[in-house]
Amino acid sequence: MGGLRMRVFLLFLIIGIFDFHVVCGYTRPPPRRTLFIPLADPDSDSPQQVHISQVGRDRMRISWITDGPTSARVDYGPSPAANAVSATGKTSSYRYLTYESGEIHDVVIGPLNPKTVYYYRLGGSPSSQTYSFQTPPSQFPIKFAVVGDLGQTEWTKSTLEHIGNSTYDMLLLPGDLSYADVIQDLWDSYGRLVEPLARQRPWMVTQGNHEVEKIPVLHSEPFTAYNARWRMPYEESASDSNLYYSFDVAGVHVIMLASYTDFDPDSSQYKWLQGDLKNINRVNTPWVFALIHAPWYNSNTAHQGEPESVSMKASMEDLLYQSRVDLVFAGHVHAYERFYINPKPEISMFREASFGHGILDVVNASHALWSWHRNDNDEPVVSDSVWFTSLSSNPSCKV
Ligand SMILES: *[C@@H]1O[C@H](CO)[C@@H](O)[C@H](O)[C@H]1NC(C)=O
Ligand SMILES: *[C@@H]1O[C@H](CO)[C@@H](O)[C@H](O)[C@H]1NC(C)=O
Ligand SMILES: [Fe+2]
Repeated sequence: MGGLRMRVFLLFLIIGIFDFHVVCGYTRPPPRRTLFIPLADPDSDSPQQVHISQVGRDRMRISWITDGPTSARVDYGPSPAANAVSATGKTSSYRYLTYESGEIHDVVIGPLNPKTVYYYRLGGSPSSQTYSFQTPPSQFPIKFAVVGDLGQTEWTKSTLEHIGNSTYDMLLLPGDLSYADVIQDLWDSYGRLVEPLARQRPWMVTQGNHEVEKIPVLHSEPFTAYNARWRMPYEESASDSNLYYSFDVAGVHVIMLASYTDFDPDSSQYKWLQGDLKNINRVNTPWVFALIHAPWYNSNTAHQGEPESVSMKASMEDLLYQSRVDLVFAGHVHAYERFYINPKPEISMFREASFGHGILDVVNASHALWSWHRNDNDEPVVSDSVWFTSLSSNPSCKV
């Protein structure tokens, strides 16, 4: 089995009317209506768009937005009173053309115990709403939900319900979040749409083409909204950019890569990746996953031959291969497909032009069960499932 590369490319679409004839063909399903989630109380300074992300092994970043200036303070604890500890963090905001963001608050809390429910309140007011989240486990098993190209349509709404019912520990998102596409109010709407899930479990994301939001002359800085709203733990993995980072959870090392910034061998992303891969200890993390946005393998007619797929693959594939990365997740195509390099010659093992989400249940150091849950006109239906064995558990793979 030397040289076995297992690759999962998770290609997920949001916008469209479901049609079974279309599914049989591998033509991407069309979009559904875009949703706009308004602010429940437009005059209030109460927290909105709450989401959490893991920082290091035992901390959590709490991010939220208020319309007016309020304190970047989190009160939290293991009991519903949420008053055992308090922590303060930072507040920032950004401008985009005529849009001015709310106050974006960012507080890192911890240390926290694994697989434990914590209650928390935001802004320092004792009368504010109490939320709760559960930390991920520190050992196997761990269950990931995986979804790309989430957007904010009626497809998104039912897919989020399905994910919410799945008892996952952490969500992984390989890019394309809000599809705001320069309309910044849509970022706020997206934050409100995903909040009920994203405030309860860590959402670890990387970015896609819809996050770039660069307009020649008018707004030359890329990823302004993404970086301000979805800050990820990049310093903790010695990365110099919020666009690429890595972290360990249970026994898994997860690498988040950036398809829309430099990835050539002389780029800082490439050098960072080299160093990150070198530091992996397969005793601590027998599994290694990577997430990218633009897929390196794709048999759909959509998104063929793009430089972010072709050139990034040419630059980085060998690096991931030599380090025996177990699984690669990608987004972008809006249809599901799963590949292996071996056995040859048919690399596309399963494909289906459906929306949906994936669940990766890593049961121990050697076995993980992957399942694809098609969003079948709002019903979740498992249409593909497969057991993976880790490369580190295979003596001939020389990890
Ligand atoms: C999700 O769970 C809720 C109750 O917890 C249930 O009412 C709903 O039907 C479930 N949704 C799906 C699509 O399974
Ligand atoms: C890991 O899980 C698989 C699948 O459930 C099982 O067959 C195997 O025995 C487990 N390995 C260990 C060391 O527990
Ligand atoms: Fe995309």
